Amino acid sequence: MEQEALTGVIEPKTVAVIGASATPGKIGYSVVQNLVNDGFKGTIYPINPGVDEILGLKAYPSIADVPTNVDAAIITIPAKAVLSVIDDCGKKGVKGIIVITSGFSETGNRELEQELVSKAHANGIRVLGPNIIGVLSNSASFNGSFAPFLPYSGKGALISQSGALLIALDAATYTRRVGFEKLISIGNMADIDFADLIEWLDKDPNTSCISLYIEGFKNGRSFMEVAQKTSKPIVALKAGVSEHGAAAAASHTGSLAGAAKVYGAAFQQSGVIQASDLNNLFDRTLALSLQPPLKGDNLLIITNGGGVGVLATDAAEKYGIPLKFAPKDVQAELKKHMPEFGSAKNPVDLTGQAGYDWYYESLRYAIGHEWVDGVVVLYCETAVTNPLEIAQGLKKAIDEAGAKDKPVTVSFVGGEKSDEGIRWLVENGIPAYTAPDLAVNAMAALREYARSRELISSAPDAEFEVDEKLAREIIKNAREDGRDSLTEIEAKEVFRAYGLPTTTTKLARTADEAVELAKKIGFPVVMKIVSPDILHKSDAGGVKVNIKDEQAAREAYQTILDNAKAYKADANIHGVAVQEMAPWGTEVILGSVNDPTFGPTMMFGLGGIFVEVLKDVTFRVAPVSQNQAKNMLGEIRGAPILRGVRGEAPRDQKALAETISRYSKMILDLRDEISESDANPVLVYEEGKGIKVVDARIILKKK
Ligand code: ACO
Repeated sequence: MEQEALTGVIEPKTVAVIGASATPGKIGYSVVQNLVNDGFKGTIYPINPGVDEILGLKAYPSIADVPTNVDAAIITIPAKAVLSVIDDCGKKGVKGIIVITSGFSETGNRELEQELVSKAHANGIRVLGPNIIGVLSNSASFNGSFAPFLPYSGKGALISQSGALLIALDAATYTRRVGFEKLISIGNMADIDFADLIEWLDKDPNTSCISLYIEGFKNGRSFMEVAQKTSKPIVALKAGVSEHGAAAAASHTGSLAGAAKVYGAAFQQSGVIQASDLNNLFDRTLALSLQPPLKGDNLLIITNGGGVGVLATDAAEKYGIPLKFAPKDVQAELKKHMPEFGSAKNPVDLTGQAGYDWYYESLRYAIGHEWVDGVVVLYCETAVTNPLEIAQGLKKAIDEAGAKDKPVTVSFVGGEKSDEGIRWLVENGIPAYTAPDLAVNAMAALREYARSRELISSAPDAEFEVDEKLAREIIKNAREDGRDSLTEIEAKEVFRAYGLPTTTTKLARTADEAVELAKKIGFPVVMKIVSPDILHKSDAGGVKVNIKDEQAAREAYQTILDNAKAYKADANIHGVAVQEMAPWGTEVILGSVNDPTFGPTMMFGLGGIFVEVLKDVTFRVAPVSQNQAKNMLGEIRGAPILRGVRGEAPRDQKALAETISRYSKMILDLRDEISESDANPVLVYEEGKGIKVVDARIILKKK
């Protein structure tokens, strides 16, 4: 049903334009003109109470007057009048309305927008928009928009949250020769959102890659769920990535979680490839819409110039597919298609004399060889070669090699003749670019896609045993105490309920108790202030470490209390925590935020007191599998520290990954309660020796 309703909007057979106009220059005129000029083969009903005919088509005063049922109504009347036509649309069986009209939630008119959706749904109608350009579909010859023409034909489908950008990119599809099957303007997303359209496009036989220009989601999790299930590559450009709002956060994690990082994490987890800018969105769409994923890391570069070869080598490393030397048999065969002074290593340098034959022979052999997973072909325009001929040789080689599961991208550097070669290649299904960096970046997109799919399809983890009931009990007690944060001791109890290893920590209310506890735990100990009003304990002089004997414990108790009172005279002080002094380990931080778009989100990074300065952290939306957690460990700049540097043994990454995964379950289970949290520092020991959470902080949601 859903699919059918969206088909009615995206590929309708019968369209009414409500607000069609006979006056050139008006949007209601443009829409009818575009439908006619771009060859819409279905029926068009212009609707206008004051006109009999528009562009040779009979006009009707109201949609109620048209002689047949209607699939889609494109609405181009002012906002205040839109609601008045919805019931009539319902009577005519309209499946969806394409509301071009502006003046709804984007101008603060939220109620009108909600009324529009309610009324449409009451009539069984889906709403695209409002505040959009419209929908363009090449295969349906449907230009239901005020963008002037259908895009350059191809297999991409672009969904854009910016209308103006969609019109601009429509024109750019011709100059860039990046083909799109569909352009869909999504506007205010009052009803139909990215997830709905992606689900529909996944089943569209004419679309092979889904490209997104995103400003913000309303529901990030439903997007993730749909994206994960999609069988086609999705490439996204996210705009608006400033760290706005982060400074007011109460935890380290809160202050480090910017929109860019959380969106980036969500994309990664749901197999969505990111684009860095508009050009990159087009470049990556071209490759992802025309070529198969790069399933392994054995990338071969074939070139006629050392310079572009070096540039491509640099780019390969930069984009995560560093080159390896080709095996001996590959080198030996390739040597046959180059002069003595050529190189068959990787990049394979055929030298400046390389023409049709050498390119053709070496590419055909390379793609056919089992070691090679994909090939980037580079060409510099020379006086002795013809770019178009080379392009044709490449195509012939690819066709004859018959390895349809191995991607090829191409770069031609030169002038008009090279551009002609590039155009020919693209028209023949081979992504080609004007610079080596671009061809390698496109190949990297194909690699990223393959990797993300592998991760998504990897087996899920076994369920952890946890004590959610106990965790909720601890939180309930704190709430009954009138608090919206847990003390360190309580936070550690919640952590332990989820199987996170924490240091033994007990509360002392007198100096004598502190001494007794310290003796029980065993010297040396650490002592810390316990007060819901003092979150940053070190700043308040509320932490003493390496307390070695009874006398020192007694003194520390008093000093900590004095410091806390001096820091905040009216602080509610529960006492002093006495805790086991864990042996030194590598300091990392784990933490969580409740992201407004994606909900519970995990952070991992290098910890300690400089965490906010170094910002060496990475994010994932909860839940985080142990495999995903392992990837997180490799993503930070400090990753080599965990692998063991300067003769040190590797750290216990397995235990750390399990802890991240357990932590993520905790924040997901308790998402109605936990707002932000940190475990900092977490000490990571040598492989097999585990980890220890030394300090813990949980901030509850305000209720
Ligand atoms: N049924 C049928 N026709 C009607 C009705 C009705 N109930 N009510 C009015 N009309 C007719 C009008 O008589 C008029 O026809 P005419 O030219 O013969 O007089 C036509 O519908 C349009 O109505 P107007 O009142 O003339 O409205 P106008 O064309 O000036 O503006 C529009 C309407 C275009 C929808 C405007 O309100 C609007 O929202 N503009 C912005 C649209 C936009 O830019 N959207 C994309 C934003 S995204 C971006 O980034 C650009």
